[in-house]
Amino acid sequence: MSGRLDAGPAKRGETENTLTTRKRRVFSGTAPSGRLTLGNLLGAVGRWTVLQYETDCLFSVVDLHAVTTEHDPRELAARTREFATTLFAAGLNPDVCTVFVQGHVPEHLGLTWLMECTAYDGELRRMIQYREKARQESVRVSLLTYPALMAADILLYGATEVPVGEDQRQHVELARDLALRFNHRYGETFVVPEVTLPRVAARLSDLQEPTRKMSKSDPDDAVGVIRLLDPPEVVRRKVARAVTDSEREVRYDPGARPGVANLLDLLAAFGDDGPEALAERYASYGELKSDVTDAVVDALRPIQERYRDLVADPGYVDTALAVGAHHASDLAAPVLARAQRNFGLLPLPAPAPSPA
Ligand code: TYM
Repeated sequence: MSGRLDAGPAKRGETENTLTTRKRRVFSGTAPSGRLTLGNLLGAVGRWTVLQYETDCLFSVVDLHAVTTEHDPRELAARTREFATTLFAAGLNPDVCTVFVQGHVPEHLGLTWLMECTAYDGELRRMIQYREKARQESVRVSLLTYPALMAADILLYGATEVPVGEDQRQHVELARDLALRFNHRYGETFVVPEVTLPRVAARLSDLQEPTRKMSKSDPDDAVGVIRLLDPPEVVRRKVARAVTDSEREVRYDPGARPGVANLLDLLAAFGDDGPEALAERYASYGELKSDVTDAVVDALRPIQERYRDLVADPGYVDTALAVGAHHASDLAAPVLARAQRNFGLLPLPAPAPSPA
């Protein structure tokens, strides 16, 4: 094991703060359901590609999260591979960060149980995503307990920062609460993580329904969702059809004019200027849409070229994921062991020495 990212066992007398400030480490993930979107790039993945050169980072394709709702077992493995390939295509570099598939690291499930035994039923039921999705008739129990799995993902690696979009903020805050509660009851065990959100586009909206999040799980042909692998002509068509309003002047007003604000947020995410300043530069929605299209097509082109290269070289992805899972497991195992010990479980006895 390299020890590069190892949080190490908690030392006696260490407080939450000394644990938290010991080392900067980033963990984040994405669930392989649907197809990755521009929302995923702007809310999370784009920042991951920068953070990997600043500090220790682990990123996971969290396949176990993708099965918390109905899934197609014939598709899951292919989607998981597609997601990993897209993350590398978007710029994650396995030489500087750790990329792995969650299901390849069994420690996630081990710690999830302890998190389920730390969380309260009421706090899980209050999660917005659960309340929204649980309106359907019957949902899997795993949809309710999913934030416990997510907390385990984060706490296993001693993550100090979790870069996500706005929709995941509540789950990271729960992970924080569970870490504090566990540490308080059973002794210092976990680093307490912080959520980090992007400067703009923390919640990129659907281009057709700008009051709704752009979601990767929408049907493949949804016109309001830009996918990272959409060809330029598809991007052009989707942006051209984006809902705006009947006013003429371009103004940034997310409450009253969410469609236009969403396009301005999108453009702002690709440059240094804020959405208000950008609004002043445009005399018409047509001009704004044309610049949005160019910015998106320019951002997606290198990702798509690299994606094609990687698909032609599956060994690259396989090797990176195998190395990533090994490294992640090396880091996670001592943290899980510490948590189980502090929780009161009997450690596995060492085998008796064999008679000489
Ligand atoms: P997932 O796969 O839905 O999304 C991956 C990341 O993309 C962000 N995101 C968005 N950001 C801005 N605008 C949008 N429209 C948009 N849609 C998605 C998400 O906030 C997320 O950061 N449960 C998580 C995956 C996960 C995870 C973790 C994340 C599992 N364990 C531990 C962080 C840490 C999820 O389903 O994300």
